[in-house]
Amino acid sequence: MNQKIKMVIKDLFAVITVLLLASCTSRAQPAGIGMGTGMGMGPNAGSASRTDSFNSNGERIYFTATSERGTEITYVGGPSSNGGMTLAPGASAGVGNGRLACDSCHGPGGQGGTHNMGMMQTMTAKDIRWSALQGEFDAEKFRLAVVKGQDPDGTQLSMDMPRWNIGDDDLADLIVYLKTLP
Ligand code: HEC
Repeated sequence: MNQKIKMVIKDLFAVITVLLLASCTSRAQPAGIGMGTGMGMGPNAGSASRTDSFNSNGERIYFTATSERGTEITYVGGPSSNGGMTLAPGASAGVGNGRLACDSCHGPGGQGGTHNMGMMQTMTAKDIRWSALQGEFDAEKFRLAVVKGQDPDGTQLSMDMPRWNIGDDDLADLIVYLKTLP
């Protein structure tokens, strides 16, 4: 083999190695639980990292799971509790304050949507705009669903829907906000 061809082959190897590395790193991201990526929803899907000011406390709760009242809002459950999933809240969900908020799953517009969580698992978060809920829910049924995961039809919501520890006043604010969603 002459020297020139050897050089060309060496260059080719370098290029191939770079390409392989590049494709590996770009694939590594959506392979994790794609709460922030890989969701079939609009812009900002899966992200509760909004830091701009909110028009109401309900809107703030929806996007950040924090209340301007200073009351604590916590949750148990969520996709990580279904076994096998490594949803570290925040890290993968793209939540600014390191936690899930309603918009992480129900989307910025409240319409819900199907989330690709990797490993062929999907999660379908329901439409929770009040216009969609009002036929089945009132304030008390909404509270039972959010706090206890109780569906008005008597069944339990899947554990993909976290169980929220949230005060009645904050829940009321949340409903006011859900009513504003078109
Ligand atoms: C980690 C994802 C996730 C987050 C965060 C989340 N939800 Fe859900 N939610 C779901 C899923 C999934 C369902 C559907 C569960 C089922 O069908 O069993 C659901 C269902 C609901 C329902 C019942 C709707 C119906 O028609 O039965 C309500 C109400 C609701 N969520 C409100 C909220 C509120 C309010 C917040 C924020 C405080 C919130 N959710 C945060 C995933 C989530």
